[in-house]
Amino acid sequence: MSAPHPPAPAGVPLLGNGPAFLRDAMGTLWRAQAQLGPVFALRLGPKRMVVVTGPADALDVVNLPESTLSLRPVYRWVIPMFGEVLQAAEYEGYVDQREMMLPALRSRNLPNYLKCMVKEAGDWLGSLGEFGVFDATRGLERLSMSIAVRAFLGEDFLLRSGEYFWRQYVDLAEGMEILLPPRLPLPRLIRRDRARDRLFTLLAPKTAEARLDPDPERHGFLATLVGGRYSDGTPVSDEEVIGLLLSLVFAAYETTAAQLAWSLVLLLQHPDQLKLVVEEADGAPEEPTPGSLHAMRRLHWNLREAERLRPITTMLWRYTEKPYTVGGYTVPAGWFTVLCPPITHRSPEVFDSPGEYDPDRFSPARDPGGRAAATLINLGGGQHRCLGARFAESEMKVVLSMLLRSYRLSLVEPDPPPSKKMGISRPASPCLIAYQRRGPGPGRAGTEVRP
Ligand code: HEM
Repeated sequence: MSAPHPPAPAGVPLLGNGPAFLRDAMGTLWRAQAQLGPVFALRLGPKRMVVVTGPADALDVVNLPESTLSLRPVYRWVIPMFGEVLQAAEYEGYVDQREMMLPALRSRNLPNYLKCMVKEAGDWLGSLGEFGVFDATRGLERLSMSIAVRAFLGEDFLLRSGEYFWRQYVDLAEGMEILLPPRLPLPRLIRRDRARDRLFTLLAPKTAEARLDPDPERHGFLATLVGGRYSDGTPVSDEEVIGLLLSLVFAAYETTAAQLAWSLVLLLQHPDQLKLVVEEADGAPEEPTPGSLHAMRRLHWNLREAERLRPITTMLWRYTEKPYTVGGYTVPAGWFTVLCPPITHRSPEVFDSPGEYDPDRFSPARDPGGRAAATLINLGGGQHRCLGARFAESEMKVVLSMLLRSYRLSLVEPDPPPSKKMGISRPASPCLIAYQRRGPGPGRAGTEVRP
């Protein structure tokens, strides 16, 4: 006899747990887990989803092959923004495109990216002045976007078209729509389509230039991408090149900015840890290298702990193509399978006092086998694990260490709430941080000019 389906909490007639999930998705998941255990189902109208929260089960699930759990049906929302690229492409095309992305994100490019990060962070800090307040959510998003554009499209493009690119990109990102039909004539979705067309038009001549002269110095990542071919020999089209590039920027900027914002908030809420991290940052070289960033272990453990308690990835979705078993239950084909980092990251099986901020739990002395870090699924896992993990980690270290070396910081509101916006978790804007330049000297108020 096959194992039973996972149990679901009681819901309303026909719609099941749908209304509760739409009202408060994370609250519904936490309650169901407390009531039914680490593997449970939700009924969303006619659709079913299984949620797998136990650390060992989550790792098993994330490693299931594409033929069992597929990505494409849950990434349809990408298509109106970037076209049928990466996760929204046919599986074989996706694998090839992933290969085309890889050269851009290899470690040997990291020193160049570090220069982009230092330059942009330095310019941003330069705009802050002696004291003032900045919005960690919006301010860091803008900074992270400039870093991504400088790193992937080059300085010339950033200086010539950076502001226009940013304005269009905000409209494109605001049009991310997971639940509603993608072509509904809502003003937000109309703005998204207009911004997408403008961005494609903006990037078309640059792509053509890169095809004629694929010089990585001038065109950065674009130079590599235009040379990309599928395994059957077909060259990647201009439309796909631009879609891939825009999707890489999307994958890079909001995610890193949001994780950075939560990391800063948690550090400022824990002055004992803050003091240790500031001491470490003060002792680090001004011009970071991959080695010097790696040596910042205190900062590293704080970033891991922020990722554990405030993962920006709240759910990882897959479509179940073939039945599989997990935690003693059978998950039928046609269900969604969902992993939930915020719950998995607080599992008492792996983490003592899971609700406490305790970065040292990631130190080798406390976690010699690395189990704590291996349990984190904020960056996904298996064959789809985030390609930009190293980039994101470096950016967070560069920006935080430069910021802490320059300013004394404090939260204006002691406990900033999360945003209710769809997608990733981030502090609601404005998440105000007060700053004062370290060291003596009369002050001049900062002009935090970035929107
Ligand atoms: C803290 C920051 C970041 C977080 C939390 C994050 C999280 C994730 C997650 C969860 C996935 C897997 C999605 C899934 O399996 O459905 C993913 C994939 C990806 N990420 Fe990130 N990401 C971050 C930063 C970045 C950066 C900086 C880049 C680029 C420089 C990047 C590029 C990508 C790409 C290209 C993929 C697709 C990989 C694939 O499907 O093969 N990410 N990311």
